[in-house]
Order: sequence, then structure tokens, then C-alpha cells
Amino acid sequence: MGMVKTQIENVLRGYPALFKLGSKVYHTFNGSFRTLSPGTPQALLEAFTLAKEFAGDDKVGDYYEFGLFRGYTFLEASKHCKSLGLNDTHLYGFDSFEGLPEPAGSEDALDNRFFKGQFACSLDSVKKNLSKNGMELDRATFIKGFYSDSLTEELRTQHEFKAASVVLLDCDYYSSTVDALEWLLPYLRDKTIMLFDDWYSYGDGNELGQQKALKEYLEKYPQFSVEPLSEFLDHGKGFVLHKK
Ligand SMILES: C[S@@+](CC[C@H](N)C(=O)[O-])C[C@H]1O[C@@H](n2cnc3c(N)ncnc32)[C@H](O)[C@@H]1O
Repeated sequence: MGMVKTQIENVLRGYPALFKLGSKVYHTFNGSFRTLSPGTPQALLEAFTLAKEFAGDDKVGDYYEFGLFRGYTFLEASKHCKSLGLNDTHLYGFDSFEGLPEPAGSEDALDNRFFKGQFACSLDSVKKNLSKNGMELDRATFIKGFYSDSLTEELRTQHEFKAASVVLLDCDYYSSTVDALEWLLPYLRDKTIMLFDDWYSYGDGNELGQQKALKEYLEKYPQFSVEPLSEFLDHGKGFVLHKK
């Protein structure tokens, strides 16, 4: 079934209007609550397990997720925190809750795979999905808005953001990843675990997508380097960040 879907997607990508229509119809009628990336829940479990090990006797820091769609990976993150006893870890979810913005440039727009409004799900629906599935919402904060508007200096003063233990970047675009990484700067520390869900979404080269975003970030902030962790389905790769 998955292969058939991929084949249909590949054909439709040649016809952007049809691809958009197909994607909207698919997501409207297939309202099932699951992740679009089958390997991410396990990658999150490994990340939190490692974060706990890194912290030793110290408190594990917070969780930052960029790109929630219906909230499935956010729910998984909360379950892992609970099962591992990470009671001090607060979970932050950043999304427009209106789907993707307009692609910001050629780095975002590759083969029409992503388009404005894709993956729209209201904050109310996300909260319902989470609480229906047993998540306690008092350990979460949702930051609504397009990153270019919402990720401000003022935002830093509105919540008690602590150091990041695990970051999930599942926001598809190069431009969104750049905005997220820039804003995250003060919360990144030695041994923050970073999961890039769209690492291979634009192929395997560092001139597009999340690979370009991280390459430029490491050039701009030479205090950081990364140590690769495992790859995960469909397009993801994890890293441990090191800070000099
Ligand atoms: C692929 S979906 C996330 C899927 C989710 N993590 C899961 O596995 O179930 C990508 C999400 O990123 C959000 N997003 C991408 N770029 C954004 C931006 N610049 N500002 C706000 N939200 C953005 C979209 O609204 C969408 O919900």
C-alpha cells in the first residue's frame, strides 16, 4: 500500500495542481492519527534515553518540536518522557497550525512536494488528539504562528525556556529549519540531541533542505559540531550536538 502511494505521488508531482488536490483529498479523508514518518517515534525514544544518560544526576532539559501536524510525534515524545521518568522536561510545540507557509525560495520548492497549507491541523484539534490519547497538557506549551513571525526575542521572555535536551525538526523546508535553528541558539548546549526528520527529503546533498540549513549553521556558529546518530524512516537523521 505504501509503495502504491509513493508511486502515485511520484506521477502526480509532474502535475502540481493535481498533486495538491490529491494530497488535500488524501489528508481530508485519511484523518488517521499517526506520524508521516514511521521511524520517528523510535528515534525519539532513543534520543530521550540518550539524553537521560547524558544528564546523569542532573535534570534533563526541555523538548522542542518544530512541526506537529496532528500532534502524533509530540504525543510520542510525551509518552517517552513519562516512561523514562523525565518529570522536569517541558514540551514545546511550534507550528502555524495552518500548515506549511509559501515556499521561501528554490531551496524549499523542489519538485512541488511541499506547498502552502499542506499539513494544516488546528491547535484545538491537536490538543484534542493529545488529550484523547492520554497526554497531560499541563506539561506542554504550544507556540502558534509561522516561524518568521512567532520566533521572536519577545517570545523568549514569555515562557521559561530551559536548555534543549531533544529537538525534533520536522518542518520540511530549508527556510523553516533556518528560522528554527536561529531561534534555538541560546537553548542549545553540549550534547543536545537533534533529530532532522527531513534530512534526506531533498536527496543527499548539502545544497538543499535541512542539510544545507545545518551546514550553514555550523559555518556561522563554529562553537558547534555534530556527531551523527542513526538514520530513521522515511528521511530522517539524528545528531548529537557538541559545543566547545
Ligand atoms: C510534516 S508535518 C509534521 C509531522 C509531525 N511531526 C508528525 O510526524 O506527525 C510539518 C509541519 O511543519 C509545520 N511548519 C513547517 N514550516 C513552518 C513554519 N515556517 N512555520 C510554522 N509551521 C511550520 C507545518 O504546519 C506542519 O504541521
